[in-house]
Amino acid sequence: MYVCVCVCVCVCVYIYIYIYICIVLCSVSALRRSYKPINKMQREHGTFCCLLFSSSLPLLVMESALTARDRVGVQDFLLLENYTSEAAFIENLRRRFRENLIYTYIGSVLVSMNPYKELEIYSKPQMERYRGVNFYEISPHIFALADNTYRALRTERRDQCILISGESGAGKTEASKKILLYYSATCPVRENSASIKEKLLQSTPVLEAFGNAKTLRNDNSSRFGKYMDIQFDYEGAPIGGHILNYLLEKSRVVHQNHGERNFHIFYQLLEGGEEHLLKRLALERNAQHYHYLFKGNCVRVSSVNDRNDWKVVRKALTVVGFSEEEITELLETVASVLHMGNTQFGEDEFGETHITSDAQLKSAASLLGVDGAELSQALTHRKITAKGEEMISPLNLEQALAARDALAKAVYGRMFTWLVEKINQSLAFKNDMYYSDKSASVIGLLDIYGFEVFQHNSFEQFCINYCNEKLQQLFIELTLKSEQEEYEAEGIAWEPVNYFNNKIICDLIEEKHKGIISILDEECLRPGDASDLTFLEKMEDSLGGHAHFVTHKLANGKIRKAVGREEFRLLHYAGEVNYNVHGFLDKNNDLLYRNLKKVMCQSSNRLMSQCFHREEITDQKRPETAATQFKLSLAKLMEILMSKEPSYMRCIKPNDGKQPGRFDEVLVRHQVKYLGLLESLRVRRAGFAYRRHYQAFLQRYKSLCPETWPSWQGQLSDGVATLVKHLGYKPEEYKLGRSKIFIRFPKTLFITEDALEAQRPTVATILQTSWRGYREWAKYHRIRRAVITIQSWWRGVKGRRKARRRRQASDTIRSFIKGFILRHEPRCHSNNFFLDHVRFSFLMTIKRNLPKKVLDKSWPKPPPSLMEASEHLRRLRMRNMVRAYVRTIQPEWKNQLEHKVVASEIFKNVKDSYPLSVPKLFVGTRLDPEEINLKVLQTLGNDKVKYGIAVTKYDRHGFRPRPRQLLLTSSATVLVQESKVKQRIEYSTLLGISVSSLSDGFFVLHVPTADRKQKGDLVLQCDHVIETVTKLAVMADKIHSVNVSEDSIKFAVARGKVGVIDFTYGAELRAVKSKGGHLSVDHTFLFLNNRDMHI
Ligand SMILES: Nc1ncnc2c1ncn2[C@@H]1O[C@H](COP(=O)(O)OP(=O)(O)OP(=O)(O)O)[C@@H](O)[C@H]1O
Ligand SMILES: [Mg+2]
Repeated sequence: MYVCVCVCVCVCVYIYIYIYICIVLCSVSALRRSYKPINKMQREHGTFCCLLFSSSLPLLVMESALTARDRVGVQDFLLLENYTSEAAFIENLRRRFRENLIYTYIGSVLVSMNPYKELEIYSKPQMERYRGVNFYEISPHIFALADNTYRALRTERRDQCILISGESGAGKTEASKKILLYYSATCPVRENSASIKEKLLQSTPVLEAFGNAKTLRNDNSSRFGKYMDIQFDYEGAPIGGHILNYLLEKSRVVHQNHGERNFHIFYQLLEGGEEHLLKRLALERNAQHYHYLFKGNCVRVSSVNDRNDWKVVRKALTVVGFSEEEITELLETVASVLHMGNTQFGEDEFGETHITSDAQLKSAASLLGVDGAELSQALTHRKITAKGEEMISPLNLEQALAARDALAKAVYGRMFTWLVEKINQSLAFKNDMYYSDKSASVIGLLDIYGFEVFQHNSFEQFCINYCNEKLQQLFIELTLKSEQEEYEAEGIAWEPVNYFNNKIICDLIEEKHKGIISILDEECLRPGDASDLTFLEKMEDSLGGHAHFVTHKLANGKIRKAVGREEFRLLHYAGEVNYNVHGFLDKNNDLLYRNLKKVMCQSSNRLMSQCFHREEITDQKRPETAATQFKLSLAKLMEILMSKEPSYMRCIKPNDGKQPGRFDEVLVRHQVKYLGLLESLRVRRAGFAYRRHYQAFLQRYKSLCPETWPSWQGQLSDGVATLVKHLGYKPEEYKLGRSKIFIRFPKTLFITEDALEAQRPTVATILQTSWRGYREWAKYHRIRRAVITIQSWWRGVKGRRKARRRRQASDTIRSFIKGFILRHEPRCHSNNFFLDHVRFSFLMTIKRNLPKKVLDKSWPKPPPSLMEASEHLRRLRMRNMVRAYVRTIQPEWKNQLEHKVVASEIFKNVKDSYPLSVPKLFVGTRLDPEEINLKVLQTLGNDKVKYGIAVTKYDRHGFRPRPRQLLLTSSATVLVQESKVKQRIEYSTLLGISVSSLSDGFFVLHVPTADRKQKGDLVLQCDHVIETVTKLAVMADKIHSVNVSEDSIKFAVARGKVGVIDFTYGAELRAVKSKGGHLSVDHTFLFLNNRDMHI
């Protein structure tokens, strides 16, 4: 059985191996057959366009989607055939937008279209898809950008930053939230990193409440620039964060354009604030009652739920780490601004300005923790220093209103800065040791306003666009730098790239002493009547003739018409923008009268005291102007960004109506232009459209060349060279660098990609086949290993058993031999076993050879020690057999046997004919009833004849033989001659019976001689003498009275005479009277042989 199993297993093994080898050989040969030169493939498949890619497209890897380019465009603008064409660029955006593919790359820059609808692409599984996957391996996504940045941070340990820019409403803030979400979901968690993650996430709603507002372009427009650092430890877990804020649009606090709102927090507080809170802040639940809130005539926004947002913000403030007191102070400050807005002024008859709404002022003063009268005085008067003397000058109505608004803006602006600082304190990683180690790395997120061009552009747009110029400069510089570095690293000659260098515009704005900001500051600071228009004139004087600066006066013809008299035009990299100089000076000064500052510095409100410092009053130095502050902070930002590895995201909004699915080409073109996307593309495409590491390239396309499939064994560069040669690339189409292949034209890549697509089913089939083969092969090996394990186990078990048995056997044999040697010694430890064994085996022998029949006298020979036991057992066995036998005996047979036993007792060993009589059964009677005369029966009456036999009676004297019948009844034996009863001998009178020891049939019945009725003893002879005598002896109860004589029998004749019968051996059987008067019976051997007679 075991052998059979082994043979079967071996056969299976060979069959499997054979099948596997066949599969592999078939795969290889099939693949070889399937190779065709690429040109031929092209002809066969024409412009192969795979329309397999449907809405599931974001799941596809980048190059795969190339095949669906007719429908969904290219995933990377670098692959655009006509990369200089704006129309082609926009068409690609449109195609992808139509298919809900909102992300597209320009190399490593991610371009995003705001879908204005929820797409199912930000789920947890999606995050998992992008986790740890290379940029080019998967469809463009913000998660890919986030993941790539994170991996670069971890592997290269270099700080990273992601620059998100775009127009208002293009989706910058949403994008930065998605990135934060991605990091919080995918980064490892450490002790306190869970709370940091939460704080980072929750800082967004707080900042949005205080820094975002509904504008015409966006219901949740960020009115400040934000740069957020996320700090990661060496294991990649977020451990802290830091936020830098830029240029909050403070003017919104006091004024909103039609259709716009103030910052969300005001409306949230009024809508969602609890009754007691509003009461304490002396506020009413109606935004219409507050001047600062309804200027835009848009208190409610359908897409914004202020009540819910209030709850979110309230919770977020706690999560971020604001104490209840701090929250209270924060809300008091917010409320104070509303009360300030409602503070009204009036003029008396002397033209002096005074406050007409005392209650409002009091509320504002108490919430700000300042003295009401002092505040009132500071709002209506101004302290001026002339020739070293301080003088109080009253403000006119307009000035008072401006002072009030300036205070409101300052309070809100400084509160916002305080808020950001507080958040920073909460996000800061507490362990300073850690930083000294420099083991923490940083990813910076820049969510900053994009290029803005409105009908009327003012100081804010100027700053914002200046910021974008700087970012563009940084972008171009870094892109070119990285391009150049890459070329150098790959050993490819650098070809100079023509691009628009916007340094000239940056210089125009920021250059010391000559730039616009310097001129503006100069105008702000100079004594005399400086105004916005003098500022314009100054610019005309200083900058006239600059290629990128135009004013109404400087321009001529057509352009002059397009530029207003109060406007100047800058020719930005992204286009021309007209700025109206109105308000430039005021906004740049951002002045708060010294006496107002003084009042605020005395505030008992802790928050305010942290916002207004006493040094400000004593410090005679003028504070930096807004533009200079902005310039300095931008310079700092540039430094920060330069120290990091940048990644870029450009956001585009598809329409102004916030509508999903609508692609407004004019608007998109405008943004493409202002974001400088074509410029970026041109820089990236200056050399080669596509580059890929050898390994990745070979891995993807190796199936297109028989030499590289299924794997290339040599150098990767040689493999790629072989592959491109096989694909028929022309020398001008590509270059091989040190680690990458550079492909100049997208067309080359598309043809390769199409060939791959055509090849794919074949490869898939081969891979499937091989995989199945391998799987079965592996399965077989698993089974084989299992079989071998089981076999070896089983063999081990068997071997151990066998060894055990052998050991036992040898022990047994040893003790057996020892026992045998000592068998005659008294029982001891050494012979115990042998003796027991002998006994046991004898008993077992008996058990096996027990006699089955009573007559079977065989019995195993016992060992000497068991003689006695053996005898007992033998007897027991015999007794049991006899008992069993006896139980089966029938009454007749019992009777027969009893008679036989009696016969045995009487005749055994004493009468020659006895042995012959043993096998003959005794019969019931030898005479049939009809053979007995009726008269005799009548004579016998009730004495029934039990046995009858024909006998020969010899006379007592002459010994003449006479035939007679001998009947045995229950009480007597009767000799009958036909109808006469010749002699009756009662059993009680029967003295005995004599028979000879020979084989004759003679017997003598002895009767008492004194009995008169008897004539003497009866000499009889019959054929069945043993049967007859036995029956008679039994019936007459004369068993012990049967006498067996050897030579002669004496018998009594009447009257006291004695007769003798002599028994001798003679020539023939005869009974005659001898000369001595004896009856001589010769007994012959012949007679002996006649067995039927005389027995
Ligand atoms: N990926 C997106 N998926 C769905 N909707 C989006 C997505 N990005 C932006 N939006 C929609 O566009 C609106 C404006 O986005 P967001 O506030 O991010 O713009 P923004 O660029 O930050 O504008 P601003 O410069 O005014 O702050 C969001 O409120 C949201 O409704
Ligand atoms: Mg925003």
